[in-house]
Amino acid sequence: MAKKPKMNGQTHAVNLITMTNPASPISEQYRTIRTNIQFATAGNQKIKVLVVTSPGPSEGKSTSAANLAAVFAQAGQRVLLVDADMRKATVHKTFGLANASGLSNVLSTSATGENVIQRTTVPNLFVLTSGPKPPNPSELLGSPRMLQVIEELKSAYDLVIFDMPPIVAVTDAQIMASKADGTILILRENISRKDEALKAKELLQMVHANILGVIYNGVSTDKDQGYYYYYGN
Ligand SMILES: Nc1ncnc2c1ncn2[C@@H]1O[C@H](COP(=O)(O)OP(=O)(O)O)[C@@H](O)[C@H]1O
Ligand SMILES: [Mg+2]
Repeated sequence: MAKKPKMNGQTHAVNLITMTNPASPISEQYRTIRTNIQFATAGNQKIKVLVVTSPGPSEGKSTSAANLAAVFAQAGQRVLLVDADMRKATVHKTFGLANASGLSNVLSTSATGENVIQRTTVPNLFVLTSGPKPPNPSELLGSPRMLQVIEELKSAYDLVIFDMPPIVAVTDAQIMASKADGTILILRENISRKDEALKAKELLQMVHANILGVIYNGVSTDKDQGYYYYYGN
């Protein structure tokens, strides 16, 4: 059988609920979150740089970040999703993209992001994968080079979303939340612990992060696994 042609290195179509089932209640909830973020501000400015994190592992950070990126792209915004979890990178897998170079290369060299950023099958949605795992993710994210990169990306995209590691375990998300216009905290039903959720909030407040709200992920309802959003903090 002939091999299927690859699209920009992509090996499979994206399997995000907001793409495969835009009419589902979960997709509708992502659109509600989109609206809330569109009306949120950082000072008097619109939110252009968004950080997604959670207290611990496997709470739905990457799932939420990718679906949020997709619904903003569906609204016609030019969106860049950055895999800033250089410790446990998953965005390239979600979008079926190569990860030979990505954020770690951009931060450790003078390579511009534009040479490394990849298109996805979702119109208006672009991805900067993590790149090879560096020995020093926190130092790279905290470097002056990161500030340059953020400015560069802000001028090229309407919205830049950073998918981060868990905030209680490592300082990476705290570093990025201090530089972002807004931060979304993901909590997952039956997985996130209350003490860790409070610790996450404290760590964000310590760096004066603009906490836009919490996505409460995985609430079982009669019909579906839900994603609920509580606006404000
Ligand atoms: N509400 C949910 N219901 C069922 N599975 C979920 C839910 N949220 C996330 N998952 C699954 O849990 C795993 C971890 O999710 P992920 O978004 O990668 O978490 P994180 O980035 O926080 O580590 C993935 O396999 C994802 O598909
Ligand atoms: Mg993740």
